[in-house]
Amino acid sequence: MSLLAINKLTTTVGAEVDGIDPDRLATDDTLGEAVLDALEENGVLVFPRLHVNPEAQVAFCRRLGDIDHSSDGHHRVPGIYPITLDVSKNSSAAYLRATFDWHIDGCTPIGDECPQKATVLSAVHVAEHGGETEFASSYAAYDALSDEEKQRYGSLRVVHSLEASQRRVTPDPTPEQLARWRARRTHEHPLVWTHSSGRKSLVLGASADYVMGMDLDAGRALLAELLDRATVPDKVYSHRWSVGDTVIWNNRGVLHRAAPYDPDSPREMLRTTVLGDEPIQ
Ligand code: OGA
Ligand code: MN
Repeated sequence: MSLLAINKLTTTVGAEVDGIDPDRLATDDTLGEAVLDALEENGVLVFPRLHVNPEAQVAFCRRLGDIDHSSDGHHRVPGIYPITLDVSKNSSAAYLRATFDWHIDGCTPIGDECPQKATVLSAVHVAEHGGETEFASSYAAYDALSDEEKQRYGSLRVVHSLEASQRRVTPDPTPEQLARWRARRTHEHPLVWTHSSGRKSLVLGASADYVMGMDLDAGRALLAELLDRATVPDKVYSHRWSVGDTVIWNNRGVLHRAAPYDPDSPREMLRTTVLGDEPIQ
C-alpha cells in the first residue's frame, strides 16, 4: 500500500498526489521512497498548488537522489535552474526552444553521464495561453509494439545528437551555431532500453537523429512513426499549470515537451534535477 493518496490522470501516464504539504515534504522521512515508487508506476506525479519554496524543493529532491549542480549560478539557490525564455533570467534561454519537441532529457550528455532519474518543476509564473507540459510513457510505447516489432526493433541502435534536437527549432543555423552544436559529441543508444528492473522502454525524441545501418530516410521515418504512436493524444497527459504547482517526472520512463507559449510570456518554472545512475542499455 502506498503512503500516498494517488489519483491516476490517464490510463498510461500521470497521477495526482493529494494530501501533501511543504511541511510534510520536509519532515516525513518515508516520502522519498514512496515518491520514487509512485514515479516508477505512474511516470509523472502532480502536486497541485503545493507552493513549495526553492530551498525546500532542493531539500526534498535530495531524498530522491543526488542533485545536478552543473547549471548552478542562474538562481540564488544552488540546485535550482530557472526555465524561462526571458534571457535576463536565464542566459541560455535560446536552447530551451528545443523543449517544444518531444524529448527525453540527457540523451546527449557532454561526457558519459546517465540520463537524469527525475526532474521537478514548480511554477512561479504561468503563460496566459499555452505552456502546458505534456507527457507520454516510453514504457507504454514499448509495450504497445506487436511481438514481431519487439523482435525486429530490439537490436536497432540510434545515433542521438544535440544538432538533431536544435536543428528542429533552428533549421538554418549560423556557422557559429552549427560549430557549437557539433562540439558536443554524438551518442549511440539502443532503441529499446532494458532497465535494471527488467522493464523496457523506447528511447525516442528530438535528439534521435538516425538509425545505424538503415537507409537514412527509412530510419528517420521509423523514428517519426514510433514517436507519433507513442504520443497520440489519448496517451498524453497535458499539465495545465497553476502558480505553485509542482510536477515530478520519471525521465527514464517518459517523453515530455512544452506546448508553445509566447516568448514574451512571464512563464517561469523552477527546476531541480535528480541525477541518474542507469545507462541506456
Ligand atoms: C525541461 C523541460 C518543459 C517545460 O525542463 O527539461 O523540457 O514545460 N521543460 O518547461
Ligand atoms: Mn526536458
